[in-house]
Amino acid sequence: VSHSLNPLGTIGFTPVSANTAPMTDGVTVPTGYSARILVSWGDSLTPEPHWDTVSALDESTQLHCYGAHTDGMHYFPFPGPFGNKRGLLVTNSEYCDPPLVNNIVPAANYATTAITLDMVRAQQAAHGINIVTIDKEHHQWRVNRHSRLNRRITGNTLCKISGTAAGHTLMKTAADPHGSWVLGTLNNCAHGYTPWGTYLTCEENWNGYFSNETGEVAGESDPEHKLRIIQNQLRYGVVKGGFGYRWHEVDERFRADLHPNEPNRFGWVVEIDPWDPKSKPIKRTAMGRMKHESAQVVIDHKDRVAFYMGDDERNEYIYKFVCDKKFNREGYAENRDMLDYGTLYVAKFNADGSGQWLPLIWGKNGLTRKNGFADQAEVLIKTRQAADRLGATMMDRPEWGAVHPITGDIYMTLTNNSRRGNTPVSGNNRDGTGSAGSANPPVDAANPRPDNDFGQIIRWREDRRRVTATTFKWDIFAQCGDKANVKSLGSSYDSTGHDGYVGNINGDDYGAPDGLWFDKEGRLWIQTDQAGDASGDWVNIGGNVMMCADSSTGETKRFLTSPPNCEVTGVITTPDGKTMFVGIQHPGEDWKIDFTDNSAWPDNGYNGPTTYTGSSVSKPRSSVIVITKDDGGVIGS
Ligand code: FEO
Ligand code: CA
Ligand code: CA
Ligand code: CA
Repeated sequence: VSHSLNPLGTIGFTPVSANTAPMTDGVTVPTGYSARILVSWGDSLTPEPHWDTVSALDESTQLHCYGAHTDGMHYFPFPGPFGNKRGLLVTNSEYCDPPLVNNIVPAANYATTAITLDMVRAQQAAHGINIVTIDKEHHQWRVNRHSRLNRRITGNTLCKISGTAAGHTLMKTAADPHGSWVLGTLNNCAHGYTPWGTYLTCEENWNGYFSNETGEVAGESDPEHKLRIIQNQLRYGVVKGGFGYRWHEVDERFRADLHPNEPNRFGWVVEIDPWDPKSKPIKRTAMGRMKHESAQVVIDHKDRVAFYMGDDERNEYIYKFVCDKKFNREGYAENRDMLDYGTLYVAKFNADGSGQWLPLIWGKNGLTRKNGFADQAEVLIKTRQAADRLGATMMDRPEWGAVHPITGDIYMTLTNNSRRGNTPVSGNNRDGTGSAGSANPPVDAANPRPDNDFGQIIRWREDRRRVTATTFKWDIFAQCGDKANVKSLGSSYDSTGHDGYVGNINGDDYGAPDGLWFDKEGRLWIQTDQAGDASGDWVNIGGNVMMCADSSTGETKRFLTSPPNCEVTGVITTPDGKTMFVGIQHPGEDWKIDFTDNSAWPDNGYNGPTTYTGSSVSKPRSSVIVITKDDGGVIGS
C-alpha cells in the first residue's frame, strides 16, 4: 500500500498527557478544545422525566431514555442549510451491567439474587439503538426532547428478517413459524451507514445472552441432526450459562436447548431508517452471520458498493459483502433492497503482501450439502463454518474498519489476541473449535506477534481500486506498543511472550485499538478498549484514549483521555468537521464493592453539568461527549 498520498488535513493540536495513575476521572482534550456531556445513560429523550440514576431502572423508564453502554455512532444532518447545527445522532447501546440496571450492591450478588422478568426487561430495554435529535441552541448542543424522530430500538423491538436466510428452516421458531420476524437486536457494537441514508448496526456478542442449559435440543430425535445443531451453537459460543446475564431463567426464548433456532436469528447486520419512526429494523442475512463489529461502505468509480466487516473474536475472519446492484443516486427507495442481494467474501492475507477474497457461494469450494450446507442460506447462517472450510486467515480480533476518503484504502483495527503463537491457555482458541487447551494458531505475516496484548492496524487496497476485486495488497499501518516499557528494551517482544511490546508507532503510544474513523480531510481517529486502569502492561500508556494519526507519515498524537475503566468508542463529526461526538462506554466498570469505586463520571461534573440532580452519589454512566474547538475550527486542525 502506497504511503505517498498526502492527506489534506494537518494535525495541529498539542497532545494531552496520558491518563496514568493516579488517574483523572474525566475526559481531557488538548488546550484550545472543550469536551462537554451531551447525553448520558438514563437521560430522557422525551418530555418524560430522566432516570434518577440512583434507584433501579425499570423498563418503562428505560424505553424513553438513552440506553446503556454507548458504542458505534453516526450523525445524519438535517437536510437544508442547518445540517451542521441540527441532526440525528444515531448510536448503539451495546450491552449493560445488570447490577447497575437492577441496583444490586455488591455487584457480585447478581449471580445469586432472585431474578424477575421485570429486571430482565429493564436490561433488555437498556440494549439496542438510540435515535436522538440534537441541535445547537445558543452555542450549546443539546438533545431536542420534543422531536418526533427520537426513538429507542431495544432487545425486544420487532425486527424484520430479510434476504437469503429469511424463511429458512433454521430461522423458524415456535413464536415465528415463518422465520421472518424476530424480537430485538442485541449487543450492537460498531456500526455503519449507507449512502442511501440508513444506519447499520452490527450484532456482536449476542451469544452471551443464550444458554443451552441441558446440552440437548428439544424435539430433535435424530442424533445426527442434534449433533449438527449443537456444533453450530458451539461454533458461535452458545454454551450453558452464557455470559451470566441469566435472562434464560425468566425469558424462555433465551434457552437455546428449548428454542435451538432462536440464536440463529442473531449475529446479523441490521439496517435502520432513522428518518421514519414507524419503520422496522431489518436484519440483512445476505451479509452473513458472525459476531459483527462494523460494516464500512465503499462505493467505487463504477458505482459498485461493498461493505467491509470484521468478526470480533480471537482467530476469526475479515469479510466483505459486494452488492449485486450499482448504487442508484436517486435515493432511498431505489436502494432499499441493496443489502439483500450480493456476494459475501472472506479474506486471506498472504505473507508476500497480497491477499484474496474467497467467495462464500453455495456449491463452490466444498460449500456443499455433503459438507453440511444444504443451500446458500445455510452457508450464511453458518458463515464461520463456511469460512473455516475456505482456508481464510484467522485474525487478531477484527474490530472497526475505516475508509480513507481519498485513496479508498480500508484500514481495520485488530485489537489483541491472547490465543496466538503461545502456549494454549484453558478454554478453546476460538469458540467451538477443538477441546479446552487446544493448540493456538501460529503467528503469521498479518498477525505477527504471539500473545498480542497491544494489537495492530492492518490496511488493504483493492486491485484497480474496484470493490468487486478478488485480490488486494495489504500492509500493517501500525503495530501498537509501549516504547517506554523497560522490560522490552532492544527486542520486539519479551521472550516470555506476554509483556512489553515496543511496537512501531510514530508518536504517542497506544494499544488495543478498536474504534476507527477517517474524517473527510484524511485524519485517522483511533479509539482504544483496554482495561483502562493504568496498571500492568498499561502503566505508561495509561487509560483509554482517542488518538489522531496522519495516514501518510504514521505520525500519531494523543487527542483525548478518558475516565478509569471505560472504553472510548464511537466518533463522528458534523459535516463541517467543527463539532465532534465521542462515546465513553462503561466508566468505572469492574467495581468491587460500590459502583463508584473506580469512577463517578459524568455526574462528578468534570465535563460540565449533567441531568443528575440528586444528593447522593450517582452511578457512573456511559455518555456521549461533544467536542468543539474554542476558535470554532475543524477538530484536529
Ligand atoms: Fe464490542 Fe469488538 O467490541
Ligand atoms: Ca468494539
Ligand atoms: Ca473491543
Ligand atoms: Ca469493551
